[in-house]
Amino acid sequence: MRIDLLTLFPEAFESIFASSIIQRAQQKGLLEIVLTNIRDFALDKHNSVDDKPYGGGPGMVMMCQPIFDCLEHVEALDPAKGRRIMLSPQGRPFDQMLARELAHEQRLILIAGHYEGFDERIRIGLQPLEVSIGDYVLTGGEIPAMVIVDAVTRLLPGALGDDTSAEEESFSSGLLEYPQYTRPKSFRDLEVPDVLLSGHHERIKDWRNQQAKERTRLRRPDLLTEPSTERQEQ
Ligand code: ADE
Repeated sequence: MRIDLLTLFPEAFESIFASSIIQRAQQKGLLEIVLTNIRDFALDKHNSVDDKPYGGGPGMVMMCQPIFDCLEHVEALDPAKGRRIMLSPQGRPFDQMLARELAHEQRLILIAGHYEGFDERIRIGLQPLEVSIGDYVLTGGEIPAMVIVDAVTRLLPGALGDDTSAEEESFSSGLLEYPQYTRPKSFRDLEVPDVLLSGHHERIKDWRNQQAKERTRLRRPDLLTEPSTERQEQ
């Protein structure tokens, strides 16, 4: 997969993408990340990418021209047609189902804005999929873009050491993950449940299943009723 990132702060991504699984995915050739600075496409002597809103109001608005020009440049870098995604609190809520959908794409093109928002003609003219990572407002789209890259990368076949781990955890079955334990068996009087030490694979599987259901019922009952979880995909 190729991921292009259009941003005003390319340096903000470097340490995240140089770490752990995202770096390994790039080294293995599963993922190529290309960062492009929107400001490089500004035309005036101040390198402006934002301006005051028509009609007044607080803050600054991302201008059309630098984003259109930057996107056209980026799209021409590779023949694969990318899925255009714009990060915004007004977008489709990001969840594991959308992460899976995006992990099937050959190329993603993420547009991370800043300031108060985007000129509406960016939405109208570029028709991106708008994606929100939650019902709160961040100062820019960089952190949401990192969230998407991270969640999608770990779903790329071969990105995780153990291929089953992406399937077993929270949300992939529509349930939260069951409790996990590792050595030692006893820590400050806190014990590992006997069943996990029993060696009975069927009993362990049943216990985990039941724990996952119970945990989901207690913590996230909405997941058991909402039609939007991945259980629908299967
Ligand atoms: N930009 C600012 N806040 C955001 C959010 N919650 N999701 C995606 N992009 C954003």
